[in-house]
Amino acid sequence: MTRTAEIIGVGSYLPEGRITNADLERMVDTSDEWIVTRTGIRERPIADEGQATSDLAIRAGQAALAVAGVAPEDVDLLIMATSTPDMVFPSTGCLTQAGLGLSCPAFDVNAACTGFIYALQTATSAIESGRADTVLLIGADTLTRFVDFTDRTTCILFGDGAGAVVLRAAESGGVRGIALGADGKRGSMLYVPAGGSAMPASAETVANREHYIRMNGNEVFKFAVRVIPETTNAALAQSGVDVGDLAWLIPHQANQRILDTIAERLGVSHERVFSNVANTANTSAASIPLALDDLYTSGRLAAGDLLALVGFGAGLTWGAAVVEWTKTTPGKEA
Ligand code: ACO
Repeated sequence: MTRTAEIIGVGSYLPEGRITNADLERMVDTSDEWIVTRTGIRERPIADEGQATSDLAIRAGQAALAVAGVAPEDVDLLIMATSTPDMVFPSTGCLTQAGLGLSCPAFDVNAACTGFIYALQTATSAIESGRADTVLLIGADTLTRFVDFTDRTTCILFGDGAGAVVLRAAESGGVRGIALGADGKRGSMLYVPAGGSAMPASAETVANREHYIRMNGNEVFKFAVRVIPETTNAALAQSGVDVGDLAWLIPHQANQRILDTIAERLGVSHERVFSNVANTANTSAASIPLALDDLYTSGRLAAGDLLALVGFGAGLTWGAAVVEWTKTTPGKEA
């Protein structure tokens, strides 16, 4: 009998605070017009001072478990995709496991903005191999904690949030195929220099602002618009799905211009490319499950829909998954 991993629950959490383009105009030499034209972003959710990544993850995890109707004792594995952990250790997965009252194994996956797709591969493998029946997968990040709000080239892009899915063993449907990639030689295109073992925190690293994101925006842009179509096509081919059969293309939300370019390159109409980047900005590993939750709760997903989820980010990393949605639209349950 074939074992597949289907998504039986989805949930998300965005902190209440917002940084608008008008706020950024007061911080750096920029304008609403420049930001909207170049990125499509209008506002970014920002975690409260007292909220760490695990606080957002717990809220998203609770919501996904409630939608799935799964009790804490029935979760076999918790996988946390994040590159902004609460601390070096314990893992954010373990902190979230405690917060959710789970007793299963828990760990972190760091593939930056591709983290959700990488972790989906791990979760799917655990279920398909029979090592787990029910997996809680959370993507959560607080990138604004690592953003230099004096650097206009990066501070306009990022927000905080969390999204989660519950995966369960099924006989059909669910995750059909996953393609992943990495190119570590180009890691310096997008990185945080200090705070790790290579450059431990010191008064000097703080003075040099080396705990913040450094990015070559042009190169990351070019990388994204090349790799997203390639990896999406690889996942579609693996799944035996034609691009024309997709109900939704759900890309990592980084920049509206990236979304528009990949829609054209893949030949997917703009109405079928999900976008909420205007109001969430780039929430890293949270962006794809946040998108799924948005589509599900607004009744835009129906059982049988074929979805392509695609991410890219620091590493450099990239990846795509083709998923057959099996959950009934809210309000249309029998
Ligand atoms: N406001 C006003 N002017 C600005 C701003 C700003 N916020 N930022 C840059 N500029 C200026 C630059 O200084 C430059 O000025 P110059 O011509 O006088 O030198 C000019 O605008 C053009 O700059 P570019 O960098 O060429 O602008 P571009 O159109 O490439 O847009 C951007 C920059 C938005 C960063 C774009 O390159 C991008 O989105 N790249 C992808 C970034 C991304 O997605 N990163 C996340 C990856 S996922 C992860 O793992 C975290």
